[in-house]
Amino acid sequence: MHRLLQRQIKKHFGNLDSLPLEWQSFLTDIDTAYCQFDDDHRMIERSLALSSEELLLANNQLQDLLKTVEGQVAERTTELTKANIELEETLINLKKAQVHLIQSEKMSSLGQLVAGVAHEINNPVNFIHGNLGYLQDYIAKILNFINLTQQNYLQGISEMESLAEEIELEFIKQDLPQIINSIEVGTIRIQGIVQSLKNFSHMDEAEFKQVDIHKGIDNTLMILDHRLKPKSSPWRIQIIKQYGDIPFVNCYARQLNQVFMNILTNAIDALEEVNYHSKSDPKGDNWDRSPSIQIQTKLIDDCFVEIAIADNGNGIPEAIQQQIFDPFFTTKPVGKATGMGMAISYQIVTEKHRGKLTCHSTLGKGTEFRIRIPINSEHI
Ligand SMILES: Nc1ncnc2c1ncn2[C@@H]1O[C@H](COP(=O)(O)OP(=O)(O)OP(=O)(O)O)[C@@H](O)[C@H]1O
Ligand SMILES: [Mg+2]
Repeated sequence: MHRLLQRQIKKHFGNLDSLPLEWQSFLTDIDTAYCQFDDDHRMIERSLALSSEELLLANNQLQDLLKTVEGQVAERTTELTKANIELEETLINLKKAQVHLIQSEKMSSLGQLVAGVAHEINNPVNFIHGNLGYLQDYIAKILNFINLTQQNYLQGISEMESLAEEIELEFIKQDLPQIINSIEVGTIRIQGIVQSLKNFSHMDEAEFKQVDIHKGIDNTLMILDHRLKPKSSPWRIQIIKQYGDIPFVNCYARQLNQVFMNILTNAIDALEEVNYHSKSDPKGDNWDRSPSIQIQTKLIDDCFVEIAIADNGNGIPEAIQQQIFDPFFTTKPVGKATGMGMAISYQIVTEKHRGKLTCHSTLGKGTEFRIRIPINSEHI
């Protein structure tokens, strides 16, 4: 009999045999039910134990699987990150290659154009200039001849005298030599410009050479001369040169001239943007300063040359100062600019000459670019 039922029967009735028969059979049925319950209970416990074991096993398997998947994901992520870095590097290299291509194209086409124009102008100008001496000589002789003829043969001949008056012969005799002189001054000036164009393009010289930086700046300024008088303002841009005592520099002269050209063009563009007022109109913000570009050169630590080009334009907002060296970055109207000037200049200074190109700008005050290049970048 089930121990729990035995205990209860003992407690309440003492002995099972003392109970009437039908009670005894009733209690036997209860006993069967108790035992049945115990069996069921044991079975449930067993199956519960089994299920939790299975659950544990399944859980362990799941955790193993998770670890494997996590490992694979980490592996893939590393691979992807690596691929991404490689892609970024490729993109940077591609951009560099693109800048390089555009630069070489821009450089060579500009250089060729300038050299071509210089060559084309050179011959006719030399022709004119070379003949001016003879012209001066012939005109002097002809004038002398006319004077003598006038004195000896034409005096008193009214027809000739009135013709001389009509054509203002006396004025022509005075003006003609002056015209020849002006033509001579003009051709000398054109020859100067042609020489600057030739110097600027350096087409006839080796790429890497010793140059006088000041000459390069002066030639560039000469080429830009027509732009130093902005159309929109009554001012002429003042160029303040503070050239220091610097040695000749070993460099890619043509490319460095391109840098001067790009920076000076930007400075002129910036100054054209400023709304200058005449001094008689003190209402304008800029009435007290006239547009100027200051060019300073100096020797640093005996092995670097620094060229600082500063304008007193509107300056560059801080937010975009970081972007100005990016290829294709421009704030100028579409079609007017390519946004390549500073990117090319940066590459020429930093990569070609292992120098530094920095921008220092204050809004409302102006912008200064500093080019620092080694005197001999080949030996660095
Ligand atoms: N001196 C300056 N003053 C004010 N802004 C400047 C100056 N120099 C450069 N910048 C800014 O930097 C930008 C980039 O100059 P960058 O010379 O590279 O291109 P760009 O002048 O716009 O075009 P381009 O390729 O024709 O030179 C300019 O659009 C301008 O916003
Ligand atoms: Mg520019």
